[in-house]
Amino acid sequence: ALVGKGNHRHFMAKEIFEQPEVIGHTLTEYIDTMDNRLALPSLPVDFSTLSRVTIVACGTASYAGHVAKYWFEQLARLPVEIDIASEFRYREAPMPANGLAVFVSQSGETADTLAALRYCREQGQKILSIVNVTESSIARESDAIVPTYAGPEIGVASTKAFTCQLTVLALLALEAAKARGHLNKAEERLSVRRLMEVPRLMSDVLAHDDLIQAIAHNLSKARDVLYLGRGPMYPMALEGALKLKEISYIHAEGYAAGELKHGPVALVDENVPVVVIAPSTVLFDKTVSNMQVVMARGGRVILISDKKGIGAAGKDAVAVIEVPECDRLTAPLIYSLPVQLLAYHTALAKGTDVDQPRNLAKSVTVE
Ligand code: G6P
Repeated sequence: ALVGKGNHRHFMAKEIFEQPEVIGHTLTEYIDTMDNRLALPSLPVDFSTLSRVTIVACGTASYAGHVAKYWFEQLARLPVEIDIASEFRYREAPMPANGLAVFVSQSGETADTLAALRYCREQGQKILSIVNVTESSIARESDAIVPTYAGPEIGVASTKAFTCQLTVLALLALEAAKARGHLNKAEERLSVRRLMEVPRLMSDVLAHDDLIQAIAHNLSKARDVLYLGRGPMYPMALEGALKLKEISYIHAEGYAAGELKHGPVALVDENVPVVVIAPSTVLFDKTVSNMQVVMARGGRVILISDKKGIGAAGKDAVAVIEVPECDRLTAPLIYSLPVQLLAYHTALAKGTDVDQPRNLAKSVTVE
């Protein structure tokens, strides 16, 4: 079917603004909404006895996997390894008995991810894939798939496919937590209810579009931008930097906030904007102390946080973006949006080709 841009200037904008809807679709596929219970399809894997999960993907999909590592480990007490496919496929990694390998791919056709899948099969792993295209090579070669319901994604830079991948991974982490005895029925209902609120919270964030556009206008003058976060906001910092460089061609780096002092702080001066992603509920004080180091070196901080976080630490930031308060399960979903909008509007201000950035392909089917 032919996909249009609707009322939007770019596919990327349409896809960003579609997220409340497609996240809603993805959730209702895998949740019993009458009962607020998980309702994933039966999978050929017993989470209760699993030894390890290995997640492999490329680009933005790999950052979804990186976020999921935090969820599987904290919520389900399940060890997780995450790697990018181009490294993993040649590492000759030994793999444990009774291990699960998870592949995350919008297209289902990324050559390195497919090669990594084949390696994991040879190593006796069960193969589970999270794909947006169900008639794809990765889907075909998997023992099971859990599709995302993002609909066709046209913009080269992934947005709605990413948050749908996060949604499926969050549900899988909850399912694993339940199977391993770390999520009782009341906790399951609470977590499911929180996830069901995500589409509405996302709409709240999208209503800040004008403010983010104004911030992006200043950001577009930068030569280098740093993104900092901790815990699941560390991969979000990596994703923020990737989005910005992909479509605005501004050099950007994502860093774990705690690693600042081991290198990137040397770059900080009044010419380097630093985007700090810091929900008040996830390692907030630790991230804020890193942010204060940045400010003391003259760095211009753009703080993305909730009301509480901005009240506590926003006063010296050059700009703040307020998002609704959320917990460690929902924060990565919600915080994806300001990060995407910041990149989108910065690219608009620079006049680059947002949907077709130079040198990049939507799907990388050759090595
Ligand atoms: C390309 C795209 C990215 C995507 C990555 C992985 O680099 O430009 O947006 O994240 O491939 O693609 P996949 O289809 O495997 O998710």
